[in-house]
Amino acid sequence: MDARQSQCRHFLTLLDLHEDEALALIDRAIELKQMLKAGRGYRPLLQRTLAMIFEKASTRTRVSFETGMAQLGGHAIFLSPRDTQLGRGEPIEDSARVLSRMVDAVMIRTFKQETVERFAAHSQVPVINGLTDLYHPCQLLADMQTFKEHRGEIRGRRAAWIGDGNNMCHSFMEAAQLFDFELRIACPKGFEPDAGLLRAAGDRCTLFRDPFEAADGAHLVSTDVWASMGQEDEQVRRRRLFAPFQVTNEVMARAADDALFMHCLPAHRGEEVSASVIDGRQSVVWEQAENRLHAQKALLEFLIPTGC
Ligand code: CP
Ligand code: NVA
Repeated sequence: MDARQSQCRHFLTLLDLHEDEALALIDRAIELKQMLKAGRGYRPLLQRTLAMIFEKASTRTRVSFETGMAQLGGHAIFLSPRDTQLGRGEPIEDSARVLSRMVDAVMIRTFKQETVERFAAHSQVPVINGLTDLYHPCQLLADMQTFKEHRGEIRGRRAAWIGDGNNMCHSFMEAAQLFDFELRIACPKGFEPDAGLLRAAGDRCTLFRDPFEAADGAHLVSTDVWASMGQEDEQVRRRRLFAPFQVTNEVMARAADDALFMHCLPAHRGEEVSASVIDGRQSVVWEQAENRLHAQKALLEFLIPTGC
């Protein structure tokens, strides 16, 4: 490992940030958004390149990172296993060694969390988790920015996660620890979040069986698809088991009067959320999607060293 490698910061999980860094990053995202809307150009990443490895599909993550790099003065390269040597079995460690000698940061969307960890262990440049089966930390940056813009600090508030105990749920649990809010999780039996992560979250996260109870008094209600990428074969079985966990107007009525509804998208209306909720007055899903751009620009600025 050389000196550059050992000093390098990665973003593989939300808890790779300290609390003060996370709070500052959200404020910076809000500031970068205002600068962009005011037409003020800001290009600290001139000549910098982000490599983006996608082993799963994406709309928001790809477009927000690529646009973000362009707005910051840099460049992004889309890499898919279909047309790189990664797809032909080149070891992840070798790919990390090679790519990180050419680019300034690498974003990876893949299946196993272990893959991003192995890549980061052999990378000379920052590695960003663009979604794994375990976590989706970039989404939570955008979600925390969105809450702050609408309702101020989330510290001390109550949020509800309703549906699958999946990658998004795990990152929400880490957000509850980092930003210090209460998260009430309602999942069908057998689809709970990882037990170790739940234990690590301590009193910040509590498991419920009843979505109404989880939503009770919540300032934020969030859900996600019932079958994530890679679980397409389970779709029919999950639809039946998850049916009582749809976020409906009745569930939202149990939340606080000014509760926000969030969804990372893509969404399935009539499954995890009713059309009346996602297209209703409490939904902030389009701002969440837009904030991927601003929050990740703040992240790129934070991780990629400038001025040399
Ligand atoms: N929310 C999210 O990550 O969307 P994409 O899968 O389109 O990137
Ligand atoms: N849980 C979903 C999130 C998609 C952004 C998935 O992993 O497919």
